[in-house]
Amino acid sequence: LPSCPVRVRADGPLGRLVLVRLRLEARTGLPDLDWHCSRVEVREDPQVQEFLCDRWLQPAEGDVELRSGKCELPLKLEKKTVPLEYSVYCTMHELKQLQLQQKLIRWRRFVDGAPQCVDVNSLAELGPNLSYSHKSPTPNVHYLKGFAGRTEAWASFAELEAVFAHIGHQNRTAGFVKAHWKEDWYFGYQCLNGCNPLMLHQTRLLPPNLSVTADMLRPFLSGGSSLEQELERGNVYLLDYEVLDGVPANVINGKQTYLCAPLCLLHLNRQGQLVPIAIQLQQSPGPQNPVFLPSDPGCDWLLAKIWVRCADFQCHQLASHYLRTHMLGELFCVATLRQLPEPHPLHQLLMPHVRTSLQINFQARMTLLAANGVFDKASGSGLEALPVLLSRASDRICYASLCVPEDLMQRGVDKLPQSHYAQDALRVWGALHRFVVSWVDLYYRGDDEVLQDSELQLWISDINAHSFNHSSGFPPTLRTKAEVSTFVTMVIFSCSALHASLNFSQLDFALWMPNAPASMCRPPPRVKGSLTEDDVVSFLPDVNSTCRILTALALLSQPAVDFVPLCHYKEVVFRDPAHRRLVEAVQADLAAISDDITQRNSQLELPYLYLSPGRVENSVAI
Ligand SMILES: *[C@@H]1O[C@H](CO)[C@@H](O)[C@H](O)[C@H]1NC(C)=O
Ligand SMILES: *[C@@H]1O[C@H](CO)[C@@H](O)[C@H](O)[C@H]1NC(C)=O
Ligand SMILES: *[C@@H]1O[C@H](CO)[C@@H](O)[C@H](O)[C@H]1NC(C)=O
Ligand SMILES: *[C@@H]1O[C@H](CO)[C@@H](O)[C@H](O)[C@H]1NC(C)=O
Ligand SMILES: *[C@@H]1O[C@H](CO)[C@@H](O)[C@H](O)[C@H]1NC(C)=O
Ligand SMILES: *[C@@H]1O[C@H](CO)[C@@H](O)[C@H](O)[C@H]1NC(C)=O
Ligand SMILES: [Fe+2]
Repeated sequence: LPSCPVRVRADGPLGRLVLVRLRLEARTGLPDLDWHCSRVEVREDPQVQEFLCDRWLQPAEGDVELRSGKCELPLKLEKKTVPLEYSVYCTMHELKQLQLQQKLIRWRRFVDGAPQCVDVNSLAELGPNLSYSHKSPTPNVHYLKGFAGRTEAWASFAELEAVFAHIGHQNRTAGFVKAHWKEDWYFGYQCLNGCNPLMLHQTRLLPPNLSVTADMLRPFLSGGSSLEQELERGNVYLLDYEVLDGVPANVINGKQTYLCAPLCLLHLNRQGQLVPIAIQLQQSPGPQNPVFLPSDPGCDWLLAKIWVRCADFQCHQLASHYLRTHMLGELFCVATLRQLPEPHPLHQLLMPHVRTSLQINFQARMTLLAANGVFDKASGSGLEALPVLLSRASDRICYASLCVPEDLMQRGVDKLPQSHYAQDALRVWGALHRFVVSWVDLYYRGDDEVLQDSELQLWISDINAHSFNHSSGFPPTLRTKAEVSTFVTMVIFSCSALHASLNFSQLDFALWMPNAPASMCRPPPRVKGSLTEDDVVSFLPDVNSTCRILTALALLSQPAVDFVPLCHYKEVVFRDPAHRRLVEAVQADLAAISDDITQRNSQLELPYLYLSPGRVENSVAI
C-alpha cells in the first residue's frame, strides 16, 4: 500500500491536546475504501504530541476518538498532575471504548471444556483491524492430486518409495527420515527433536498399566544394569498416549479405521541414545494386548512403533499444535481485546503476538476442522473424535506444562544434551522473559501496582472463566510483577516459538508417510509372529487419504511473503524511545541465540532449525 501523509494546518496555538477526532467521509469522486491510519502527530515546535492510532478507519464508523499519550496504566492516571476533568474524561473514554469492544468481541464455546473462541459467523465480522492477508506462493500439488480417486491401500513399500521420489527427494530432513525411520535410536531422537517434542517424560516408576517385568527388559539394558537401577538413575522415559483412550476412530473412504492409546518405555543408553524397549498398544493390560519388545520378529516391532507414531500424529495435530498454540492464542487475544483498553501497556505488547489467531482459527474451523475438511476425510481422529480429544487434552493441561523451564524440568529433558528442542526453547524463553520483565518494569513500580491494576485482574479472570474446567490451570489472580512477567512470557512463547517448533516441522517428518500415518486401516495386533512386510503396509492409510494429508501439509507449509520474525514490530508504539531500547535489546539477544544455533547445527549431522529465532514467526498465522 502506498503511504501518504495528510497534513492539517492549525489556525492558532493549540496548547495541550486531550484528544483528536478522525472521520473518514464517503465523498463522491473518491474510492469507497477503508483507510489505515498508522500515526497521528501534532507538532508545535519544539513539542510533538503523539496519539495512539495504528488502525483502520471506515466511513460507517463516524468519529474515531484518539486519546493523547502512549501506554498508561489505569491507576497512574490518578497520580499524575493533570486536571481532574482530563483524568475523568480519559477514564470515561476508555470505559466507553471497552464497552463497545465487548459488544463486538464476544466469547463462544467451540468444544465443551476447551478454551473458548471468538463469536463470529464470518470473516467480515472481524473487521479490518483483526484481519490480515496471508500471502504465500501456491505450492505445486498437482502430482499429489493425481491420486485423488484411489481408495485402495498401498501395495508395498516400493510403491510408497516411488511416490516419495517425486515429493520428498529435495528435502534433507525428509530424506533422513526415510533412510532411518525404522531404527530405534531415530524413533527416540524424534521424541526429543521431532515435530512433537512435548510427549516424552522421565519416569522413576513403572506405569502400573504397562505389564512388563524387570526380567523381560533386562536384555535391552546395556551393561548388565537392572531396571531398578536405570529407573533410579533417571535413564527411563515414557510416552503415554492415555489421552487417546476411548477416542472414537474415524470412518475413511467408507471404512472403519482404528486408534490406540499406547504406552512406550524408552531407555537412555550409554551412547546417549534414547531407544524404545517396550510398547503396549492399549492402556488396559491383558492377553490380547501384548507387550512388544525389540527382540520380537522385525515386522511386529516395526508395526508397534508405527502405531505409536500414528498416536503421536493425533496428539501432535490436535493436543499440541491446535490446542496449545492456536486455541490458546485465540483465548488470550479475545481476553485482551475485551479487558485491556488500548493504552494499557500489556495490550500493546500482546496484540502483535495474538492478533492473527482469530482469523486463522476461524478459517481452520470453517475448513480443516469442518465436514469434508482434512480431519473428516483423512485423519484417524475425525469429526466425532475432535471434541472428545480436545476436551480430554484440555483437562490434562496444566500451567506449568506451558512454562518452558518448569515443563522441561518436570519431564526430565532439560539436561539432555541431545535434546536440541529443549536447549533452544530454554534460551528463547529466557530472552523473551528478560524482554517482558523490562517492559513490566517500565510500567509497574511495585507488586502493589500489579494488585491494584483492576484491568489486569479482570483480564486474568476472563482468561480463567473461558479456558479450562479444571482448576489447575492459570493463576486465579496476578499478584506480583514476577507472576505477570512469567504469564506474559508464556503467552508470547506459545504463540511464536512453540507454534514454530510444532508447525514448521510437520511436513519434514510426515513426507515419508509410514513415519507419521494419520490413520490405521486395521485393528491393533493381538498376537505376535504372523506378519510379513506387505502385511505391515496393509495397516497404513489408503492411497488418496495419504495424499490428502500431504496436500494439506504442503499448503500449510508455504512460507508467508509477509513473514514477521519474532520480536519484530511494525506497530508505531514500539518506536517510542523507551520501548525501542527494549526491542533492540531483545533482538540482539535473539540474534546471539541464532548465531549459536547456526554454529551448533554446523557440527550436527541432523541440524535442529525450528527454534532459530529468525525462522520463528511472531504470531500464529498459519
Ligand atoms: C465444563 O463447565 C461447563 C460450565 O462451566 C459445563 O457446562 C460443562 O459440562 C463442563 N464440561 C466438562 C467436560 O466437564
Ligand atoms: C478498530 O479498532 C479501533 C480501536 O480498538 C476501534 O475503535 C474501531 O472501531 C475498530 N474498527 C473496526 C472496523 O472494528
Ligand atoms: C478418495 O476417493 C474416493 C472416491 O473417489 C472419494 O469418495 C473420497 O472422498 C476420496 N478420499 C479422500 C480423502 O480424498
Ligand atoms: C526441508 O529440509 C530443510 C532442511 O534440510 C528445511 O530447511 C526445510 O524447511 C524442509 N522443509 C520443506 C518443506 O522444504
Ligand atoms: C489401567 O488398567 C486397568 C485394568 O487393569 C483399567 O481398568 C484402567 O482403565 C487402565 N487405565 C487406563 C488409564 O486405561
Ligand atoms: C509453518 O510451517 C511451514 C513449514 O512447514 C512454514 O513455511 C510456515 O512459515 C510456518 N508458519 C509459522 C507461523 O511458523
Ligand atoms: Fe499452525
